[in-house]
Amino acid sequence: MVSHAIEVKNLYKIFGPRGRDFVDQVKSGMGKGELNEKHGHVLGLQNINISMPAGGIMVVMGLSGSGKSTLIRHINRLIDPTSGEVLYDGVDVCKMNENDLREFRRHKTAMVFQKFALLPHRTVIENTIYGLEIQGVERGESEKRARGWIERVGLKGFENHYPNQLSGGMQQRVGLARALTNDADILLMDEAYSALDPLIRVDMQTVLLDLQKELKKTVVFITHDLDEALRLGDKIAILRDGRVVQQGTGQEIVLNPADGYITAFVKEVNRGRVINVETIMRPLDGEPQGIAIRTGTVLETAARQMTAASQTVGHIVDANGTPVGKLDLAAIISAMVTPTTHERRAA
Ligand SMILES: Nc1ncnc2c1ncn2[C@@H]1O[C@H](COP(=O)(O)OP(=O)(O)OP(=O)(O)O)[C@@H](O)[C@H]1O
Ligand SMILES: [Mg+2]
Repeated sequence: MVSHAIEVKNLYKIFGPRGRDFVDQVKSGMGKGELNEKHGHVLGLQNINISMPAGGIMVVMGLSGSGKSTLIRHINRLIDPTSGEVLYDGVDVCKMNENDLREFRRHKTAMVFQKFALLPHRTVIENTIYGLEIQGVERGESEKRARGWIERVGLKGFENHYPNQLSGGMQQRVGLARALTNDADILLMDEAYSALDPLIRVDMQTVLLDLQKELKKTVVFITHDLDEALRLGDKIAILRDGRVVQQGTGQEIVLNPADGYITAFVKEVNRGRVINVETIMRPLDGEPQGIAIRTGTVLETAARQMTAASQTVGHIVDANGTPVGKLDLAAIISAMVTPTTHERRAA
């Protein structure tokens, strides 16, 4: 099987006519402020190294202006790097010739936008097949594919509606159906859900997670919202001033924030939904006691399972059912409310 991972290596982007001239200075430590003051150039990205999981959801977070859009736009080369590489299946997207790049964009990548970017005078079905039309796919075939995806995103019956007859959440579903109809391996979602009402946003997250279980696209998802990042991200990278401050799983970041900036980001997080039982389990001594809880279960769910079973102790089992550790309700509750070392230091 081909891996479809995206590897970003030593990527720098300096906006301005002479960006290349300043790469060395940035590499030897010139920051965003200094570059702007001395040379009037904007440091968009510096030394980005991220390995984006094949068939997984890579979330990119950061404050406004931290470089999220600049990064995602390098992946289908809407932006050319000043230096560095973006590898897909081992091929550097930044070195593709015009033809290969066109093919790559059309067949391998699809974008989902915050503003939906639907064509107002086209119906749902016509919007959905737009990409296939451009590819010259025969109408009967493209319509069949589009109808399938429209149904999958929950819009069956709305095929002939126009965008202005749909709510924001429904329009975003059309955007998703359109992206999926293209059958691309990579989905690029730049704040795709940020304009949606909170409840609809959670619905759309569920739609994406459900589809993803089966589709296993390589998704790059940008968000400002930590809850969204933790729910969706197999891996999360946090940017600040064009630099990666921390990357890892949600659990790694919440348990070990790299600095005060990240600590501030993760402070409000519900730990019970992020930390897994194996993080706090203790070694088994003797026979397993209480109910069996699967590895990968988050603390909140484990606490519910114990309470429902009227138990205060449990043991952890791996995917094969082999007991690998034990824990009790008191330990779970304490881990759910205990701050990380950084937070304790800051307090
Ligand atoms: N074409 C451009 N020319 C000059 N500077 C740019 C250009 N595009 C982006 N920038 C600058 O690069 C930096 C990163 O911008 P970017 O749009 O990637 O941030 P972002 O994290 O997506 O922010 P937001 O959350 O507001 O969308 C900012 O300082 C921005 O002003
Ligand atoms: Mg942006």
